[in-house]
Amino acid sequence: MPSSAVVTGSSGFIGYHLCHRLLSEGWQVTGVDAMTDYYDVALKTARKSRLTALPGFRAIDAHIETPGVMQDVLAADRPDVVIHLAAQAGVRHSIDAPQDYLDSNIAGTYRLLEAARAHPPKHLLFASTSSVYGANTTMPYRETDKTDRQMSFYAATKKSCEVMSHSYAHLYGIPTTAFRFFTVYGPWGRPDMALFKFVRAILRNEPIEIYNHGRMQRDFTYVDDLVDGILRLIDAVPAPATHRGDTDSLSSVAPWRVVNIGNGRPVELMAFVEAIEAALGQSARKTMMPMQPGDVPATWASTDLIEALIGPLPRTPLPVGVAAFVAWYRDYFEV
Ligand SMILES: NC(=O)c1ccc[n+]([C@@H]2O[C@H](COP(=O)([O-])OP(=O)(O)OC[C@H]3O[C@@H](n4cnc5c(N)ncnc54)[C@H](O)[C@@H]3O)[C@@H](O)[C@H]2O)c1
Repeated sequence: MPSSAVVTGSSGFIGYHLCHRLLSEGWQVTGVDAMTDYYDVALKTARKSRLTALPGFRAIDAHIETPGVMQDVLAADRPDVVIHLAAQAGVRHSIDAPQDYLDSNIAGTYRLLEAARAHPPKHLLFASTSSVYGANTTMPYRETDKTDRQMSFYAATKKSCEVMSHSYAHLYGIPTTAFRFFTVYGPWGRPDMALFKFVRAILRNEPIEIYNHGRMQRDFTYVDDLVDGILRLIDAVPAPATHRGDTDSLSSVAPWRVVNIGNGRPVELMAFVEAIEAALGQSARKTMMPMQPGDVPATWASTDLIEALIGPLPRTPLPVGVAAFVAWYRDYFEV
């Protein structure tokens, strides 16, 4: 049944798609976003204006770490659910600008948790990342694996958000689900991510940089599939009675769980490049590069837990998802 949600990071790539879907299903949505200039703000503005054109949406431009901001939003709305996606994302940028990650991710999530303590939603859901698996090499990554060897400060801040939220779930009984997302892609995507960068470079006949000489695997997740997973997880509220056996990460002391949202089928980087070349009808000039600091050679999500919680996942085939991105890119940039 439609309800009310506060979504942070609503002008971001995933936040935009999530809000669009919630609104199309009749939800009332308040979106909070600082419109940061990590990448082209015009893209965020375009996403936001498409949301504000829909009934049921209210936009607030603010930094979540500013004291009082999230308190005021939750006090005014008393939403059924809070979906927290606002963050400074990106592994590579965290090497150059760690302070942004401290402020947006750690301080921002702390302020949000304090607001949820004062005005508890029925379910708090937030974005963590596959990067928290860090140096782990046992594949696929399971939510019950030990995760205390992050390889980048970005991942370290996301892991911190997971553990901070566990303490709030325990102390104040706030039902909380932390999602670990795996390389999300699709229309309206992020300019700092490989798909966007590769398509832009190929269309300009510029070389693309292939890290680790192509010896990379990623568990790519099409954004509509991800949003579908988030929506269905809203109803999977963690509670002591909902434990699902050996693969469940449900806490023994708190209504808290971490859940991978991935495709569960990793793809070689070169196969990804071929899908882009096919969608563009143009080949890429490739520059082979070493592994980037902070990066990991492979990601692969176990989907056992999410499928135990919500049933079978939609799995958009990579060529279909890549073609949808290319069609959007050509339309948006008129190229
Ligand atoms: N896209 C992926 O593949 C991926 C993978 C793993 C995790 N995630 C996580 O998912 C979430 C959404 O990612 P995305 O790809 O949509 O990124 P995005 O950068 O497009 O969206 C994040 C949004 O948050 C906003 N924001 C940043 N700092 C803020 C602050 N301090 N206060 C308020 N708003 C702020 C930004 O303006 C942006 O619109 C992030 O938490 C990210 O770390 C994404």
